[in-house]
Amino acid sequence: MSVHQSSHIKRITTHILQEMKHRGEKISMLTAYDYSMAGIVDAAGIDMILVGDSASNVMAGHETTLPITLDQMIYHATSVVRAVKRALVVVDIPFGSYQGNSSEALRSAIRIMKESGGHAIKVEGGAEIKESVVRILSAGVPVMGHLGLTPQSIYKFGTYTVRAREEDEANKLVEDAKILEECGCFALVLEKIPAKLAKKVAETIRIPVIGIGAGADVDGQVLVLHDMLGITQEFQPRFLRQYADLRGTMLNAVGNYIKDVKSGDFPNEKESY
Ligand code: KIV
Repeated sequence: MSVHQSSHIKRITTHILQEMKHRGEKISMLTAYDYSMAGIVDAAGIDMILVGDSASNVMAGHETTLPITLDQMIYHATSVVRAVKRALVVVDIPFGSYQGNSSEALRSAIRIMKESGGHAIKVEGGAEIKESVVRILSAGVPVMGHLGLTPQSIYKFGTYTVRAREEDEANKLVEDAKILEECGCFALVLEKIPAKLAKKVAETIRIPVIGIGAGADVDGQVLVLHDMLGITQEFQPRFLRQYADLRGTMLNAVGNYIKDVKSGDFPNEKESY
């Protein structure tokens, strides 16, 4: 008996993403952290799902992405993978689980792949983490890079403002992008950098470049699901387009439920046994 998938749904692979870039077809990516949301996002036809360490903010209410642990990321990723039939699932390696040395990085990447069933990992940084990226890739784990505003370094930056406006930082970013491509990364996220710089990177390297706050001239876009659905309304950066007001919808629904319970209107006869 074949152990390969027989489902008629064609899964997105890193190879397909590469072809999309060559065809000039834009790549769509959103975050998801749980089974229910991941199922909806996948059914809508998203190309990639990121189990981002933004779960630390969105799911757990932390101020930064730093507190989330490897075990917690694996828990979120496992729930997402169970729901997904088509999208490529990328899982963030969290702060503190790869910076020590390349052996630690490899161990963390392998735990994510083995325990969650995710399809790839994402890691923040350039030249500084080259050795780790190479070791993870040599184990057969696809790696997505992340440059620009890398939230795990927020205490070094001191602010969430646009990165790489100055020439030195912009030059380093381009060099880092080339290094990640040469190492064998299958794609790269660029966060909150000038659109002109992001365009230059997307034209320079052959792997897909996915932007968040990096303008339109890249190969695809990623947003945090809860931000674009209007669930988290305190976060309103310029790059965010809000596609729904789910907080409003949910407040209204829960308010109506409370009213019906208090008045005795719910449950009615049809809703009872
Ligand atoms: O964790 C995350 O959601 C991310 C995206 C902002 C790219 O890294």
